[in-house]
Parts: sequence; C-alpha cells; structure tokens
Amino acid sequence: MNVLVLQDYAELSKKGAMIIAEQVNNKKDSILGLATGSTPLGVYKELAQMYEQGKIDFSKVITFNLDEYYGLPENHPQSYRYYMEENFWSKVNLQDENKHIPPSITDNIELACKEYDELIESHGGIDLQILGIGPNGHIGFNEPGKELYAKTHLAKLTQNTIEANSRFFPDKESVPKNAITMGMGSIMKSKKILLLANGNGKAEIIRKTIKGQITTNVPASMLQLHPNVTVLLDEKAASKL
Ligand code: F6R
Repeated sequence: MNVLVLQDYAELSKKGAMIIAEQVNNKKDSILGLATGSTPLGVYKELAQMYEQGKIDFSKVITFNLDEYYGLPENHPQSYRYYMEENFWSKVNLQDENKHIPPSITDNIELACKEYDELIESHGGIDLQILGIGPNGHIGFNEPGKELYAKTHLAKLTQNTIEANSRFFPDKESVPKNAITMGMGSIMKSKKILLLANGNGKAEIIRKTIKGQITTNVPASMLQLHPNVTVLLDEKAASKL
C-alpha cells in the first residue's frame, strides 16, 4: 500500500482530485468507481473546479457507484443517487447514460445485482475505485462479520453503520437498514484503488486496515492484498500509524 499523509482535508482533497484527473487524462474513457459519504466531498468539489477550468473532460468517462441505500425513493435527499447528482454528476460533463448506481428499489434484487456486476465486467472492470472507510472498517457496505461477499448484493447495515450514518437523517429509525453494495470482488478487481480517510475518528481503523491482520472483521484490511492501492490520509487519520 502506498500511504500518503497530507497536512489536512483540503490538501487531501486536492491530491485525490489530482490522482483522478491523471487517470482520466491518460485514459479518456476511464471506468471510475465512486463513493459517497463525507470524505470524498472535497475531491468532488476540486474535480468540479478542474472541469470549470477546462483541466478535465468527463465526456467519455463511465462511473459506477459502490452502493445505494435500499428502500428509499430515488429522489430522496438522502439517497446516494441524489448525493451524486447534487455533489458531482450535475457539476461535470458526464453523460447520463454513463452514470451508474445500484437501484434503491427493484422487483428483483438478485437480478439487479447480477446485472450491475455484468455491466461493470462488460466495460472491462473498474480502472480506479475511490473508497471511503467506515469507522468499523467497512468499504462500500461490506460490513465486518464472519464472511464477506464477492458480488454485488443486498447488505444488512450494522448498528454501528446505522449510528454513524444517522447524522444525515432526522433520527436513527429513519436510516435504511439495508443497502445494495458492490461486493469485495468488484472492488478487489479494480486496477487501482484510492482509499481516502480524514479525521481522528478514522485513526484507529486506519491503523487496523494498514498494519493489522487481514480479517473479515475489518473488510478494508483485504486491501493489503491488492497490488495497487494508494491511501490518502490527513495527519489526524494517520496519527496512530
Ligand atoms: C459510501 C460508502 C461508505 C463510506 C463510509 C465512510 O458510498 O461506500 O463505505 O465510504 O461509510 O463514510 P464517510 O466518508 O461519511 O465517513
């Protein structure tokens, strides 16, 4: 793992955007794996600025989001589709047909998951996957437990994740209990991975992810097995390394 420690969140966001821009500038039709949450917001802002300044062109880029809450209406302000539209998609020249995110409601979950994996595969897999990390070590919604899943699937959110994410909802009860998430397979098959973490709240899980044993109890620790992972941390998230 290539671990880079940046001074603060602003620097981390700039560096993250630079890495993504380099990928897109080298391969115009890059397949990007995208994450939501607080962590990548700064990166999306930087990328939108770079686009405004004519430094990056997303017209041929294809994106696949990691996950979507299950059961929320599509235009719900807490849905990840809404987040992506609000914070990134609407700010750059991505083509509508090139933006992909798992469905928030579907008649056939199994089929929808299978089709999502097949679509990723049909494009040759993900070139660069952006990841945040849950305080419990989840990536996407691959939650800690006895086993992990390779494929896109309906995941049950842990209590820890429901609590962490309740900050965006009126109360804990309103947080969806399930999400459709890419499995560990699509993530691990990405050619490159960019893991972002900032703040003291991520310091302990970053230590376990990078220096701890590889275990399904810390799904992100699996990334130790990937040949091309860059971890961008601010000083606070790196404070326990
Ligand atoms: C979001 C996702 C999650 C988040 C993680 C960290 O698409 O897949 O794994 O990356 O929960 O969230 P933040 O960045 O809000 O701390």
